[in-house]
This record gives sequence, structure tokens and C-alpha cells, in this order.
Amino acid sequence: MDKKAEHERQKIIIDRLSKVVKDKNQTYFITTFGCQMNAHDSEKIKGIVEEIGYSEAKDELSADLVVFNTCAIRENAENKVYGRIGRLKKIKQKRKNMKIALCGCMMQQDIVLDKLKKSYPYVDIVFGTHNLYKVAELIETNIETGEPVYDIWKTHKEIVEDLPAIRKYQFKATVNIMFGCNNYCTYCIVPYVRGRERSRPVEDIIKEIKALADDGVVEVTLLGQNVNSYGKGLDSKVNFSDLLKEVVKIRGIKRVRFMTSHPKDLSDELIDTIAEHKKICNHIHLPVQSGSTKVLKAMNRGYTKADYERLLDKINSKLPNASLTSDIIVGFPNEEDKDVDDTIAIIKKARYSSCFTFIYSRRTGTPAAVMETKADDALIKKRFNRVLEAANQVALEESKKHLGSVVEVLAEEVNDKKGDMLTGRMDDFSLVHFNGGAELIGKLVEVEIVESKGFYLIGKRVNLE
Ligand code: 5AD
Ligand code: SF4
Repeated sequence: MDKKAEHERQKIIIDRLSKVVKDKNQTYFITTFGCQMNAHDSEKIKGIVEEIGYSEAKDELSADLVVFNTCAIRENAENKVYGRIGRLKKIKQKRKNMKIALCGCMMQQDIVLDKLKKSYPYVDIVFGTHNLYKVAELIETNIETGEPVYDIWKTHKEIVEDLPAIRKYQFKATVNIMFGCNNYCTYCIVPYVRGRERSRPVEDIIKEIKALADDGVVEVTLLGQNVNSYGKGLDSKVNFSDLLKEVVKIRGIKRVRFMTSHPKDLSDELIDTIAEHKKICNHIHLPVQSGSTKVLKAMNRGYTKADYERLLDKINSKLPNASLTSDIIVGFPNEEDKDVDDTIAIIKKARYSSCFTFIYSRRTGTPAAVMETKADDALIKKRFNRVLEAANQVALEESKKHLGSVVEVLAEEVNDKKGDMLTGRMDDFSLVHFNGGAELIGKLVEVEIVESKGFYLIGKRVNLE
């Protein structure tokens, strides 16, 4: 079936279903676990369920359709989901019409599906990462048959990945530029649950961003597991720099962000492109994972400590104002104290403005799952705390560097604690709270940074008439 025909088929189903759902004033509630990719998938699901006619419930307990968009990266993310499904059992016994739908990366694993069928038979709809476009059809099948519907595709098919989404913010949006991952880091489940890497054609991406700009979007974040390898496998010869150069030309777009950058593929050309275009934000999420060459090799990251350090030097010389952020894993099999020392050394050299630090979680099916682990949990926790402390210290020092400077902040929302303050982000992704009212939301505002609180900055608006 071709893409257009499949779109049409889904539209017909949505129309049919909407008659049932709207009549009963049904509601939905989606909870998203995990990364930005999942957050964006949830926006697409939201787009479809709202088109069907569901309106958003105030919480999951009162909703007619509860959706959990799950993450498989770490075991505790999975455990949280099981806990949440368990909590719904009693509620569902009272409210028989409540539907529970599960989707996302966890569902791409057979062991999860087996466990759900055995221990959570009251779950109604289960789908994966490759077929969320057909959520309406799955809901309809479940209503018609009254039976649980499991529909998981092992790999993606050339169908519909470019779905319209309902955005959380009017003025900023995320856009998929590629799906999947080919890197097979030995600890990571993503290549198994999100499939092989595939890039969307430039024309499709540009068309989508133009439409977003026409709809009031000023900031786009281009999403992919490894944006630096964008373009591989496409008919036209195009790379990530070429794509960025096209995106900055779009009228109305004032800021362009992207994530994630794999250090092994970050090219000189890309660094130059960021330097040349003011609209491309001065922020690179460049996960190092570990500072030890031994561990990096076991992780199959494709670079050494020295390679990463050379990359840092290059970035520093060409993009002196860029902020770097990172992901770090502590407790990888066979990691020793001296490896952790190397990680702390790289944190200090890179001067990350923020780091996501994780304790290694064994994922069945990945190569690292069968590697021997030497350190016990208490030792790993101790090392984790050392890394965290170093990362926090560096982040605090970095944030202080902004004191006294006048910067542009994109006002994003009214501060949830202080109603006369706004919250927004600088070009380098620093979070700033500053004085101002809701009329400024979505605008770039000039702010002087007057205080550093570590994870965020306090600013004061300047150039007020
Ligand atoms: N255990 C711990 N952290 C992991 N990540 C990926 N897989 C695992 C795992 N098995 C982290 C990596 C990655 C981030 C998204 O999640 O740091 O960059
Ligand atoms: Fe996982 Fe590595 Fe791919 Fe990132 S690059 S998604 S860590 S396999």
C-alpha cells in the first residue's frame, strides 16, 4: 500500500471513530517516558486522538483513554511503567470503559509483550515505535472486538512517519530529521527498538518547517539519534550541514537547535556552519558516555579519550561561546576507579554546562548484557556521586560566567512559582528566569544576567521604554 492510500484509510477510520467518541465526550491522557524523540511521538499521538474527538483529561485516573508512551533505555524507566499500569487495575475494574494503551520503545521487546499478556491482561491496546500512525485503527479494532489488540512491527515500513503533531508550545517545535540508530553502542537498546537509521528527505523536512513557521514557530529543534550522520542512504547527496543551511533560510525561523550529536561524526564542516550562522544555536549536546579509552572501546563508541579531547579543542577555538552538554554512564562492566578518574577529567576539560549522569543499566539483548561486571552496587553508587559532584561543580562555574552579560532569551512560559516572572532559554540553552508578563511569550527578549543559581540564572530585562 502506498503512503497516500494509507493516509486516506486512516482518515476514514478517524471519521468513523469520531462519531462514537464525540457523542460520549470521551477524554484521553498521555504520559511520556524518556527522550525528546518520545515526547515528539506523543505530540503525534495527541494529534490523532484529538482528531478522533477525545479531549484532554485533567489526569490519568479520570481519562477514558490512558496512553503510556514508554522508554526502554534503563530498567527503572520500565519498572515505573509496570507500576503505573498496576495502579490502573482497580480503577479499570470500576470503570469498565476505560482503555489502556501502551506504546513506545518498551513494546518492541518480546519479553515485555510476554509479561504484559501474562500479568497485565487488562491492557487494551499495544503498539510500537514503527506504527503509531495507525493508533485510530487499533482503538477501533479494540472497541469492535472487545479483545486486547497487540500490533508491533519488528522494523519500519515505508509508510507514514511524517505525521502532523499537536505542539505543546505555539512558538517552538521539534522536527524528526531521521529515525533509528546504526551505532550499536554495546549498552544501548535503541538500535533494537527504533530500527536502522533512516533520514527523511530534505524537501519533506523543509516543507514541514515552513508550515510550522507559517503557524508561528520561531524555534525548531531537529531530532535524530545521531544527527551528524544525516543524509546517509538518501538519493540526493546531502549532509547535516547542508540541511542546516537550508533550514536557516526559512522565513520566520529565528533559532535552530539540534540533538543528538555523536562525537565520532561531528565534522569540521558542521562546526564551521554553526559558527557562520547566527540562527544556529551555540549549543552542542555531545554525549561522551565515559572519559576512559578502555571503556569507550568496550562501549563501541568509535572514539578514544584523545579523539574527544581534540574535538573539544576544535570546538573551543571555532565556537568559543558554545555550551556543551553531555550524557555519562557510570558503572559500565569492568569500569575501574581510574576510568572514573578519566571521566571526571573530561568533564573538567569539556566544561559541560549540564550533564545527564546515569548508572549503567543492563539491557537484555545488548552485547554489554553478557559482559562481566566487577564493581558492586555500593561502589558504583560512590563513583556515581563523585562524577555527579564534579559535573555539578563545573556546571555551577560555567553558569557564573554569564553574570553581567546582556543576552537574548526566548520567553517560553510564565514562571510556575512567581507569576510576575517568565522562564526562557538563551541561545546556549541556559535556563533564565526574568521579569515580564505573558505577552512576551514566544518573543526574543534582551535580558541582563544578574544572578546565578546553579541550574538556572536570574535576569533583568533591559532596554525597556
Ligand atoms: N544504561 C544507562 N544509561 C544508558 N543510556 C543508554 N543506554 C543506557 C543503559 N543501558 C544513556 C546514554 C544515552 C542516554 C540517552 O541514555 O548516556 O546517551
Ligand atoms: Fe544508543 Fe549509541 Fe545509538 Fe545513542 S548512538 S541511540 S547511545 S546506540
